[in-house]
Amino acid sequence: MRISVIGCGYLGAVHAACMAELGHDVVGIDVDERKVELLSAGKAPFYEPGLPELLERVAGTGRLRFTTDMAEAADAQVHFVCVGTPQRKGEYAADLTYVDAAVDALAPHLRGTADAPVLVVGKSTVPVGTAARLADRVQELLPEGGHALLAWNPEFLREGFAVQDTLTPDRFVYGLPDGDAGATAKALLDEVYATPLGAGTPLVTTDYATAELVKVAANSFLATKISFINAMAEVCEKVNADVVALADAIGHDARIGRRFLNAGLGFGGGCLPKDIRAFMARAGELGVDQALTFLRDVDDINMRRRQRMVELTREVCEGSLLGRRIAVLGAAFKPNSDDIRDSPALSVAAQLRLQGGHVTVYDPQAVENAARAWPDLRFAASADEAVAGADVVLLLTEWQEFRDLDPVALGEQVAHRRLLDGRNALDPATWRAAGWTYRALGRPRG
Ligand code: UGA
Repeated sequence: MRISVIGCGYLGAVHAACMAELGHDVVGIDVDERKVELLSAGKAPFYEPGLPELLERVAGTGRLRFTTDMAEAADAQVHFVCVGTPQRKGEYAADLTYVDAAVDALAPHLRGTADAPVLVVGKSTVPVGTAARLADRVQELLPEGGHALLAWNPEFLREGFAVQDTLTPDRFVYGLPDGDAGATAKALLDEVYATPLGAGTPLVTTDYATAELVKVAANSFLATKISFINAMAEVCEKVNADVVALADAIGHDARIGRRFLNAGLGFGGGCLPKDIRAFMARAGELGVDQALTFLRDVDDINMRRRQRMVELTREVCEGSLLGRRIAVLGAAFKPNSDDIRDSPALSVAAQLRLQGGHVTVYDPQAVENAARAWPDLRFAASADEAVAGADVVLLLTEWQEFRDLDPVALGEQVAHRRLLDGRNALDPATWRAAGWTYRALGRPRG
């Protein structure tokens, strides 16, 4: 099929490449010339495991190209809208500027006919009600005689696993218009996803509002699960109990499950934090704010973890951060990503610096992005460089490189063997045996 993908960020670039991998003829469109240039040269504009190889593979087929010119979408039968919906400055609500602009720019190029309408597919995470509004907007802006339908098909990919999640997702969700239009839209989406559907990927078909809500409900549930275990960590800390053993034990109950029960510094990134806030804001507009007040606690628990990490650092530095040499391992909001949006690691690093610490940050992939956003922080080119002469080492993003650190070798390079494990990623016994003071969130002091 001929497909256009509007917006080539984390979601769109991966989606475009994966659609080409599935055999479609794809044009990716973005307003950012640098991104388009990089992608056109077969290079990923951000770090995502597997994406460079995929881009190289599909570049050879001639089925994938990128442009800044929306007119090039005109030949496509299916148009995926993959632009960002960040948090509005100073508010909880989502900023829909990019989604609105994408639809406004695309609609005049839609060339469907009554027999073969084209399909606009929203993938961005939006407040419930947006799809219905955009469906009307598309009709208003269609060229005379044009025929287009709209579907909402939320995306559940995780950064770090984006290619795998797009090619073999857990499920597809289609939010469809009523009646014949819905059947036509479904048939087009089924054709796009014929390969994964053929492999047995579950499909839920529903209305616009439910599809929009599925996405924010899923992210709210994940955020709640993380904050639940972090709330348990707060209690564990008070009584010297072990939140990791607790998570293992409750996780054996299949109804609870062990995944997303990793206590530590909490969630960050471009999705979970802003999605729960936008959901609360939307619930307020709909007059059902009470239904989601618990998400305020989820957010508060999450933000408290960052504060606790700063306090713990002060505690192990004998009550003062002033002039302490602090090595921070990790800047990305999670491993296998160079994304630093709302990164808990950088938020802690910045607070420690504000409070007088001499902070040096190292991350295997995110230093460039972090240095651009936080020019006041000092960055190192390796873990060794970051920890040299450190009074305390903080592990704040659990990259494999940090899990593999040798406590004996690292111990030779620091001024004081103090390690704070913000992600419960290391084995306390091994580090303590090598002479380290090991502390973690929600774990016994040792
Ligand atoms: C999240 C969802 O997991 C995806 O399903 C969704 O598609 C995506 O948002 C989105 O809306 O686009 P992502 O932001 O890539 O994906 O990252 P996650 O793997 O969910 O991790 C989010 C944060 O939670 C990270 O900072 C991670 O360190 C933290 N986390 C995760 C924990 O603190 N504990 C855990 O047990 C799991």
